[in-house]
Amino acid sequence: MQKRSNILVTGGAGFIGSNYINTFVPENKYNFINLDKLTYAGDLDNIEVANAQNYTFVEGDICDKELLKQLFQKYEFIQVIHFAAESHVDNSITNPAAFIDTNITGTFNLLHEAYQMWMEGPHQLKKEFKDVKFLHVSTDEVYGTLGSTGLFKETTAYAPNSPYSASKASSDFLVRSYFHTYAMPVITTNCSNNYGPHQHDEKLIPTIIRKAIQKEQIPIYGDGQNIRDWLYVYDHCQGIQLAIEKGSFGETYNIGGRNERNNLYIADAICTLLDELSPRDDEKSYKDQIKFVSDRPGHDFRYAIDATKIEQELGWTADENFESGIRKTIEWYLKKYNV
Ligand SMILES: NC(=O)c1ccc[n+]([C@@H]2O[C@H](COP(=O)([O-])OP(=O)(O)OC[C@H]3O[C@@H](n4cnc5c(N)ncnc54)[C@H](O)[C@@H]3O)[C@@H](O)[C@H]2O)c1
Repeated sequence: MQKRSNILVTGGAGFIGSNYINTFVPENKYNFINLDKLTYAGDLDNIEVANAQNYTFVEGDICDKELLKQLFQKYEFIQVIHFAAESHVDNSITNPAAFIDTNITGTFNLLHEAYQMWMEGPHQLKKEFKDVKFLHVSTDEVYGTLGSTGLFKETTAYAPNSPYSASKASSDFLVRSYFHTYAMPVITTNCSNNYGPHQHDEKLIPTIIRKAIQKEQIPIYGDGQNIRDWLYVYDHCQGIQLAIEKGSFGETYNIGGRNERNNLYIADAICTLLDELSPRDDEKSYKDQIKFVSDRPGHDFRYAIDATKIEQELGWTADENFESGIRKTIEWYLKKYNV
């Protein structure tokens, strides 16, 4: 394999990483090496381009320093795009240790391996690695929760509330430190809630669709008033790509589609579309299946992103609004479940 043209993608068998690979591997001049541990959240069936000449899969753990060293030596990566994470807040409440290992220690291992491969020492990239970049994919949850007004800006103080968001915040700080201490060429993106094809069944939108068509109760936490800023996964992937191509080192970019919706609205909208696309046998609405359940402990009330910086500096805009993106998403899941 030709050297100096290899990109390491971590967590590429998961939801967002697989959408990134499916979008950018085709006809790309770079080789993409997907390193994924294949936890319960990773699924090789998510990769639609597995046979592409410029795609290679490696099963492995970002906590395995020896493996990272071997991969960096073999492929001499020129970019790292770091998606791998434990990503489900509910799991971080029941099993926080895995979040500390992967999200914090794993990110540190990657940063340090990249540093050792790419740099002579602080502020000194090796000549042959002068164009390298490390893109860290993070979340808006690091900013904590909002009241009914206000938006998360890149300058908003971090105030993570769950073990998940605390572990992502820690990883963001490590990435930041490698820029300020060593001048490593790093960029961080903080994105709002994603939805779209290939999302794991456990997350809110796939759960609503699946429970509806399986004729089960559709569980909604608390009173369903918690608000998230929803972004179609393809728009997130485009934002990541722009950040890699045009982002400034050491900077963070918030990505969000200005599509705030509360959980009850999401459930209602999905039920209305399912009533149209795949009506119930008894012709009643899927809305009858919605059931409010005990709230998640420490449930953040509202997240909303101010995406002005990535829009103005990098020219990013979201193609989809919630209504157009959710229709595509439901159509994809109906095919997946053979409905
Ligand atoms: N899903 C969202 O709404 C959202 C929003 C903003 C940011 N993010 C961030 O985007 C990234 C990707 O999220 P996602 O929703 O695709 O997650 P996901 O849970 O669907 O996928 C994570 C992938 O990482 C792999 N992985 C987990 N631990 C690993 C390890 N130790 N070594 C190697 N691979 C490992 C899993 O096997 C899986 O394929 C995460 O960093 C997440 O914090 C997600």
